[in-house]
Amino acid sequence: MRKFGMKKLLMGTTAVTTLVASGYLMYREMVGGQRPLPTPKKNSYALITGASSGIGAEFARQLAALGYNLLLTARRGGKLAALAAELQTAHGITAEVITADLAQSDDVAQLESRIADLNLAVLVNNAGFGTTGGLLASDLEAQMAMLNVHITATMRLCRAALPGMTERGGGTIINVSSISAFFPSAGDVNYPASKAYLNVFSQALQAEVLASGIVVQALCPGFTVTEFHDTDNMTDFDREKVPSVLWMTAAEVVSTSLHSLNPNRVICIPGRRYQLMVAGVKSGPTALILKIARKFRQRVR
Ligand SMILES: NC(=O)c1ccc[n+]([C@@H]2O[C@H](COP(=O)([O-])OP(=O)(O)OC[C@H]3O[C@@H](n4cnc5c(N)ncnc54)[C@H](OP(=O)(O)O)[C@@H]3O)[C@@H](O)[C@H]2O)c1
Repeated sequence: MRKFGMKKLLMGTTAVTTLVASGYLMYREMVGGQRPLPTPKKNSYALITGASSGIGAEFARQLAALGYNLLLTARRGGKLAALAAELQTAHGITAEVITADLAQSDDVAQLESRIADLNLAVLVNNAGFGTTGGLLASDLEAQMAMLNVHITATMRLCRAALPGMTERGGGTIINVSSISAFFPSAGDVNYPASKAYLNVFSQALQAEVLASGIVVQALCPGFTVTEFHDTDNMTDFDREKVPSVLWMTAAEVVSTSLHSLNPNRVICIPGRRYQLMVAGVKSGPTALILKIARKFRQRVR
């Protein structure tokens, strides 16, 4: 009887110890090493691609409110100029605009040379777009443009930012990826594939620049209310078919990103529901979850 009680006590102690230890490890992984954005110096800049709408415009708003000067870029110069004027007046910062199509190599080169002269503290590679339909039926030019915007431009701008950030002993790089990187499915195959590249690229880059004080994040939003689903490339997308609980605002996504900078946790997934889905696909019945995700994607696109 005594022996049985002892065994129970041992098992209980082991269970509690395991729970506490795994809780501590999860906590350490979540908050350990978290670094707030450095207070901007008078001449430090944040460069945001795709700042003419949605998540990029929201990054501009939140970084301007923190006191960063801005270099805003996208193709729609009028929208950028209006945002720059608004934020200069509201926050007394300097906001510069460069109109650029990131699918074009010369336009990326223009940004690379501006970065070389800038005290760049924050780089947000946010520009991006989706398409609908299968690879064979898709427009090849649009697919190549997507790879150029998501992958090539991001890689080039990161590379251009490294010398200055390394010399100044720090900086922040946020590459806007997507939750879809974890749920590859039929239709628009290059979208999740290019976002998966961004996740792996960001993780590898963080390892490479750790000693220089640079923090890299791959931001993986889920459905976010922006102009993303209104573009000409997304005509078949039906917003109504996405349950309202899955939609987040750009403000929530950006705020989560800026409060989650952590060299030990490169992948940032805003929203508990999306964190749970990714945890499920990583550790649970992966095949079943992917099947559900694929069925859902077929429904909305
Ligand atoms: N909304 C979502 O549900 C969602 C979910 C996950 C990830 N994301 C990612 O979030 C990022 C921002 O998208 P968003 O939701 O904010 O959509 P959005 O409102 O459509 O903004 C996209 C931005 O990218 C710019 N852009 C697109 N193609 C470009 C090009 N060739 N050259 C330069 N800039 C270009 C657009 O500017 P111009 O048209 O003026 O060039 C615009 O400023 C994207 O990388 C997207 O993949 C969005």
